[in-house]
Amino acid sequence: MSASIIKGSEIAEQIREELRTEIAALKEKGITPGLAVVLVGEDPASQSYVRMKGKACEDLGLFSQTIIRPADTSEDELLSLIDSLNADPRIHGILVQLPLPKHIDENKVILRIDPDKDVDGFHPINVGKMLIGEPGFLPCTPHGIQEMLVRSGNDPEGKHVVVVGRSNIVGKPVAAILVQKKKGANATVTLAHSRTKDLASITRMGDILVAAIGSPELIKADMVKEGAVVIDVGSNRIEDPSAKKGYRWVGDVDFENVKEKASAITPVPGGVGPMTIVMLMKNTVLSASRSAGVTPGQGRAAASKRPRPPVLASNVPRAVWSMSMKTFKHTIP
Ligand code: GUN
Repeated sequence: MSASIIKGSEIAEQIREELRTEIAALKEKGITPGLAVVLVGEDPASQSYVRMKGKACEDLGLFSQTIIRPADTSEDELLSLIDSLNADPRIHGILVQLPLPKHIDENKVILRIDPDKDVDGFHPINVGKMLIGEPGFLPCTPHGIQEMLVRSGNDPEGKHVVVVGRSNIVGKPVAAILVQKKKGANATVTLAHSRTKDLASITRMGDILVAAIGSPELIKADMVKEGAVVIDVGSNRIEDPSAKKGYRWVGDVDFENVKEKASAITPVPGGVGPMTIVMLMKNTVLSASRSAGVTPGQGRAAASKRPRPPVLASNVPRAVWSMSMKTFKHTIP
């Protein structure tokens, strides 16, 4: 039997419709959610992602700034740009497209973004909150995968989810999100990677298999459990002389063969990709709502009533840092 296709583009459209209502309510309060997307360099895939993010903002009527800097931009210049976006009240979300050119320290850049505007969910404060199940910003692709599973009737609760790939952007956070003691999670999670021995014996255990390896069509039918739900995060451009453009996009899963064994599967393109973008929009709207104190208990208004931990910074003396963290530990509601 052929698998049902989980169409990310349709689920994303559903979420966009929900967002339109929230955005209209914010606009009535005089708030237009704003997103700044920063691209350094000329990587064609990154250029295309950044364009799609700008278009998504436009479609929803969000304020959007796409800031493009040349590949030889210095780290200091980029950090100053982030400082100015942190201070800009029109901007509720900041995304710096990764990867960055080699001479720029990615971690330093992520650390500089105000955690309250970190709609990518990559700042260590938000990564920590995700891990302990506190509200922050969830990273877009992993959160999108969770939404896809739940909205397509494949709630991960009680299921064995096997994730292949341990990147900070997808593999590790999707494992952390699905293992939470929460609605739409409660899964048993195995995280496999490039050093996993006998990968096929592990992937065959997955009721849900998430492929996030970045290797074209690596997951073959004999690596998949009969009736599994397969989420393909891969987006690999491969040469194809028979295609109009001379190339085509494939995922990390051998779609044609795996769909005969799975009960449900995401396509590439039109699967996880559109979910990533809509979850970015959702985080931007969430950030704007919090700035207006619209989300009780989660917003900056609520946050400002409790002592806040310092943003991780190398110039904070260790003693002060550990004292602050103690205070923080005892004041989390
Ligand atoms: N590069 C690939 N995926 C992402 C993402 O989700 N966010 C950012 N900032 N860069 C990326």
